[in-house]
Amino acid sequence: MSNEMEFLMDRIDGLCDENNEDIINEGKEIVKIYMEKKFPDDISSKFRNSFVSTCFRNIAIRYVGFTLLTNKFLNNLSNYIGNKKCLEVMAGKGSLSKGLMDRGVNVIPTDNFSWKQKLNLDDLWTDIENIDCLDAIRKYGKDVDFIIASWIPMDNTGYNMLKLMNEINPECKMIVIGEDIDGCTANDNFFNNLEFVFEDYYQRDTQDDMCIFGMVNAIPDFRSWSGIYDRVSIVRFKKDVNYVENNFFLL
Ligand SMILES: C[S@@+](CC[C@H](N)C(=O)[O-])C[C@H]1O[C@@H](n2cnc3c(N)ncnc32)[C@H](O)[C@@H]1O
Repeated sequence: MSNEMEFLMDRIDGLCDENNEDIINEGKEIVKIYMEKKFPDDISSKFRNSFVSTCFRNIAIRYVGFTLLTNKFLNNLSNYIGNKKCLEVMAGKGSLSKGLMDRGVNVIPTDNFSWKQKLNLDDLWTDIENIDCLDAIRKYGKDVDFIIASWIPMDNTGYNMLKLMNEINPECKMIVIGEDIDGCTANDNFFNNLEFVFEDYYQRDTQDDMCIFGMVNAIPDFRSWSGIYDRVSIVRFKKDVNYVENNFFLL
């Protein structure tokens, strides 16, 4: 563990009292598991609801990336994907791809390594092809069923990927992990031009939750760090509003 990480751990220890000792122990265990390039089975709701969890996120990002990955979620996601083919773009450290590959999922991890410093991309979970996300979609997009993208940066790249995916392979769906519109992933153009593939969501009746709290999770048991509002969604490029399923245009 680097000096910076030890410093952060010491600071977290300083927050410890009898009320949050178990939360801090759980956070240390989660970081330790990620450092060993493994996943915790699940995360307790007590930990997820405690602000202390956010301090551990700052450490864990350098070992696993931005998503709070667990075995329980990865099992559900790999069950959903089944034997379909995936391309992961912007894979970062490759932890999500590795978790899926270990479960038999056919996935090609890619990243352009532009966040090499920020994410410590010298230390990867699996081999990652160094390629721009749009070039990766051009290269592999027509042969895959899903493009996976987690924590898309807050510029127009997400929109460009979604549009290109639709042009190259209109049947392809995007599995997106990140925050909602006005959050810290992608931009308005991305969210305004996507539609959710609700028929693939595991509990369609939870759509009612959308009115209260943004998007619902497409895959069960997805976990977020405290104060982080990321979700897993299944999306595609929004169809032209004037275009209807049976292939004629509205007057
Ligand atoms: C916010 S990080 C997310 C990484 C990872 N998906 C995660 O959730 O931990 C964004 C990632 O996208 C990569 N990236 C940024 N722009 C890219 C581009 N145009 N093509 C491919 N990868 C890109 C960066 O190197 C970085 O790994």
